[in-house]
Amino acid sequence: MVSSMAATSIAGASETAADVLMIRGGRPLTGEVAIRGAKNALPKIMVATLLTAERCTLRNVADVADVEIVADLIGALGGSVERPEPGTLVIDNRNLQPMQRSVLKEFSGKSRIPILTCGPLLARFGEAPIPSLGGCRIGPRPVDFHIRALQELGGDLHEETGASRLTAKSLKGTKIRLDYPSVGATEQVILAAVRAEGVTELSNAAVEPEIVDLICVLQKMGAIIMVDTDRVITIFGVKELGGFEHATIPDRLEAASWACAAVTTNGRIFVRNARQIDMMTFLNKFRQLGGDFTVREDGIEFWRGGELCSIPIETDVHPGFMTDWQQPFVIALTQARGVSVVHETVYEERFGYVDALNKMGARIQLYRECLGSRKCRFGQRNYLHSAVVVGPTPLHGQRIHIPDLRAGFSYVIAALAAEGVSTLENVSLIGRGYENIYVKLRALGAELVE
Ligand code: EPU
Repeated sequence: MVSSMAATSIAGASETAADVLMIRGGRPLTGEVAIRGAKNALPKIMVATLLTAERCTLRNVADVADVEIVADLIGALGGSVERPEPGTLVIDNRNLQPMQRSVLKEFSGKSRIPILTCGPLLARFGEAPIPSLGGCRIGPRPVDFHIRALQELGGDLHEETGASRLTAKSLKGTKIRLDYPSVGATEQVILAAVRAEGVTELSNAAVEPEIVDLICVLQKMGAIIMVDTDRVITIFGVKELGGFEHATIPDRLEAASWACAAVTTNGRIFVRNARQIDMMTFLNKFRQLGGDFTVREDGIEFWRGGELCSIPIETDVHPGFMTDWQQPFVIALTQARGVSVVHETVYEERFGYVDALNKMGARIQLYRECLGSRKCRFGQRNYLHSAVVVGPTPLHGQRIHIPDLRAGFSYVIAALAAEGVSTLENVSLIGRGYENIYVKLRALGAELVE
């Protein structure tokens, strides 16, 4: 339990008891925001600490919900998580215990992270309960790759109602191929194989910068992991892992979200700590759209370079255009001249947020066909996974219920660009990935209605 963190409101989103954010749109966002450690790296690195009894220090920690959930989970497993100063966590897992049923029950459904404890707990105790998962509802999001890979490493699956678990006397390195380069399943294999006997070769792996950051942490802990250019990750099992000190990479999803806010509202935002290397694909599309930017040593500044014009977007695993950039980018496309085509190939149901945008005045039509340069897994399966956006269309304020994290921030951008007042409900969901959103919006000149 992180005592000092628990008292902090998540992303400032609990400022209003009704969990509602009201924005009067029409003002360009101008100024500076700072981003901290990546929401999709931090909790996984915290899970990696389960692999050692030595002290681990994590810096550049953002105050987002998943960090708090994993801190509480580590505490419930007998570990200790301290926050000696804002943005730093010190984790000590020397007294870690196997996961009890009560802990499994408490953390099931809260987030997608607890499934990643399976590998480390199997390695440390020979037994790992399988939590059921939470996270955003953007498709079925199964965990079949995770379980199959753990079985291939030597785990035995015991299926019991409400409390399935894996056991293993020892894990043994092997060759594993993922059906799809899943981020979570890649992390699962790495976290399990790092303490297995022998060598594990994982092919068709995901190689997102957040995964590479996790690998860097494991290397600091004593692991030997090779990442090849052809999506093959080779993990040499080691007997013991030690502690580490690490500053997590900045959140490229948050950086892109502010970039989209700048270009959509015709403002100018300097995102302190944003890194070009993690965002090259985004920056290329941003420039093609009509956005402009300057890369500085301490961050990236974003603004509208001229008239926005329509472009095609196809989401993909890294180094492709991230699925999490899709929603904020689509809001920018509603203000671009012409017809833009967006093909979502990572999640089958990631356009659920579009209806509300159309009510605000956008012209977005969804299609079941693959409207991209290639066929994807969803083309034959009746999912509305392509979108055609016709712009520019003026947006006007609406009352909108936020369905998931990235859709939530996109509605914030739409509300900022819209005429009149928008009322966003379920706004605390945004706190899963964006810290201090109220503070940041006010600092950039947004008009939040009290
Ligand atoms: N998949 C399976 N079986 C599995 C695992 C995945 O079929 O066992 C499928 C999924 O259903 C999906 C695709 O593979 O269609 C990709 O899923 P992936 O496992 O890569 O996603 P994830 O690990 O659950 C992470 C991020 C997501 C991000 C994706 C893709 C975290 C906590 N979440 O999810 O972030 O969209 O990778 O980059 O790291 C967000 O930040 O808003 C978010 C949803």
